[in-house]
Amino acid sequence: MKVLVVGSGGREHALVWKLQQSSAVDRIYCAPGNAGTSALGENVPIPAHDITALAKFARQNAVGLTVVGPDDSLAAGIADFFAAEDLRIFGPTRAAARLESSKIFAKQLMQHRSIPTARAGTFSSSEEALRFCETLRFPAVIKADGLALGKGVIIANNRAEAAAAIDSMMNRRLFGGAGANVVIEQFLSGWECSLHLLVSGANYHMLATARDHKRAQDGDRGPNTGGMGAVSPATDWTPELQRRFENDVMRPLLAGLREQDLTFRGLLFPGMMVTAEGPQVLEFNCRFGDPETQAILPRLKSDLLEILDATIDGTLERVRIEWDTRAAVTVVMASGGYPGAYETGKPITGLDEVAVKDGVQVFHAGTRWENGRIVTAGGRVLAVTALGDGVTEARDRAYAAVARIRFEGCHYRRDIAASAVSVNLANS
Ligand code: AMP
Ligand code: GLY
Repeated sequence: MKVLVVGSGGREHALVWKLQQSSAVDRIYCAPGNAGTSALGENVPIPAHDITALAKFARQNAVGLTVVGPDDSLAAGIADFFAAEDLRIFGPTRAAARLESSKIFAKQLMQHRSIPTARAGTFSSSEEALRFCETLRFPAVIKADGLALGKGVIIANNRAEAAAAIDSMMNRRLFGGAGANVVIEQFLSGWECSLHLLVSGANYHMLATARDHKRAQDGDRGPNTGGMGAVSPATDWTPELQRRFENDVMRPLLAGLREQDLTFRGLLFPGMMVTAEGPQVLEFNCRFGDPETQAILPRLKSDLLEILDATIDGTLERVRIEWDTRAAVTVVMASGGYPGAYETGKPITGLDEVAVKDGVQVFHAGTRWENGRIVTAGGRVLAVTALGDGVTEARDRAYAAVARIRFEGCHYRRDIAASAVSVNLANS
C-alpha cells in the first residue's frame, strides 16, 4: 500500500519511520516533509494546508491511506474533504476536531459533563472578560479560543497582566480571529502528562504515556515552546490516576460527543495536569503530540498501520498493542533564538556518526537539503531519541548522541527527563 503522511516536523518523521516498517507499506510519501523523511520515502512539495492539492495527489498516486500530522489541516476539514472524495484518511472530522480548534467548545463540553478541568468563563466581549478577572485568584490563564500556533495561552500573574493579555488578543487581534473569543481560567498547580488515545467512536485504546518539557530553558524557565523534549513512559502516572482518567474524563467525554452526534475517529491527546485533587484536563488535542510521538513510537512494537486501520474501521477492540518495556528519552535540538527569531541554513554535522548507534534515532524537524548538505530550516531542528533500560540509561544515551551533533547556534535543554530518573518504572 502507498501511504501519505501530511506535515513536516519531527512528529511526521517519526510517523513515516514507523509506518515504513510495516510490511503492508510499499511506498511512503510525506507532504511537504523534511530532510529526514526524504531518506525514508519521497517528499512531495505540497503544503499541509493545501487540502485540494493533497487530495488530488492522493488520488493520482493511488494512495491507500493518508495520515495527518498538524492540527490546522484537521481544523480546516481535511478529513471531511478526503472522505467526500472516497479517500481513506486517519484523523477526525472538522466538527470532532473542534475539541482542539475551539477551546470554548471543549471547555463547555467539559463543564456540561462535569469533566475535571480548571474553573473558567468564556467571553466574546473584552469588558466582560475583564469583569470576570475581578472574581479570580491570580495567577489566571487567558486562552485564545482558536488555534494560535501553540502561543495562544498566556499566564497572567496579576490584573494588569490579565488586562494586557485580553486587550492584545481581543482588541488588537494578536492571533487574528483565533483570539476574538477567549477562555479565562484558574491556574492549576501540579505536574503535566501527555496522554495519547486512539479513539474510534465508543471505543478507545490508550498508547504509552509521555511527558513534554514545554519551556525553552532548564528548570522550566523561559518562554513556552512547541516542546523541547519528552520522556515515555510518564513514570508518575499510576493505575489509580488511569482509573480516574477513564471514569472521570473518557466516559463523560465520549457521552458528551455522542450527545452532539459527533463521532471521533483518530488520535486524541488530552494534556493533563495532575493536581492535589486529581487529574484535570488542560486541553484536548486531536493529533499526535510533538515531541511526544518521537518518544512514544520507538517504544511501539506493534505495526502502526494495523492500529491506524483498526481505528478507522472501528475494530479497535480486536487490536493488541505491544510496547517495549524500555524507556525513551527525546531531546530537541533547536536553532539559537527559538522560540523567538532565529536564523536558518546552518549546516548540521555528526548525523552519520549518530545514525549507526544502537537504540538511538534522530528525527528531523526543521531540516532540508542544500547543495549536498543537510542544513537547518526551522526553530526545532532535530529530536534525538534513545531507548534504555530505565530513564537514566535512555537519558545518558540521548545526551551522548546530542553531543555528537553540531550546528551553529544550537541550543537544547540539559534537564530533559531529569526529574523522572528516580521513579519506579513499574508504575507505568
Ligand atoms: P494548553 O494549550 O491549554 O495546553 O496550554 C499550554 C500550556 O499552558 C500547558 O501545557 C500548561 O503548561 C499551561 N496551562 C494551560 N492551562 C493552564 C492552567 N489552567 N493552569 C496552569 N497551566 C496551564
Ligand atoms: N507537545 C505538545 C503538543 O504537541 O501540543
